[in-house]
Amino acid sequence: MDFDVSIQPYHYHAVLCAGKNCTEGMKLVKYLKQRIQDEGLQEGEFAVRVNRAGCLGVCSQGPIMVVYPQGIWYAGLNEAVIDQIIESHFRQHTPLASHCFHRQAAI
Ligand code: FES
Repeated sequence: MDFDVSIQPYHYHAVLCAGKNCTEGMKLVKYLKQRIQDEGLQEGEFAVRVNRAGCLGVCSQGPIMVVYPQGIWYAGLNEAVIDQIIESHFRQHTPLASHCFHRQAAI
């Protein structure tokens, strides 16, 4: 079966919650997308794809974001933390330990 769709190559997939319990979520999705553009990380070897979710199921410490391929879960996000994640995780390839509450086991 052929599909008339394509996805630009990416390395990291960041899924940020914009659900009703992550009250800053939608604002942070816009902020993250803009920062990825500003940093030139929307393409290239370590391109970051950003999508939003309706709820990631762990609302109490939101806003929440999960980053693949490692399955790194972040909590308590704000613009300053997003900036730290961009520098540490997306630029230095080192997850930001201070806001990481779960790491998916290697498969
Ligand atoms: S609304 Fe964000 S994790 Fe549930």
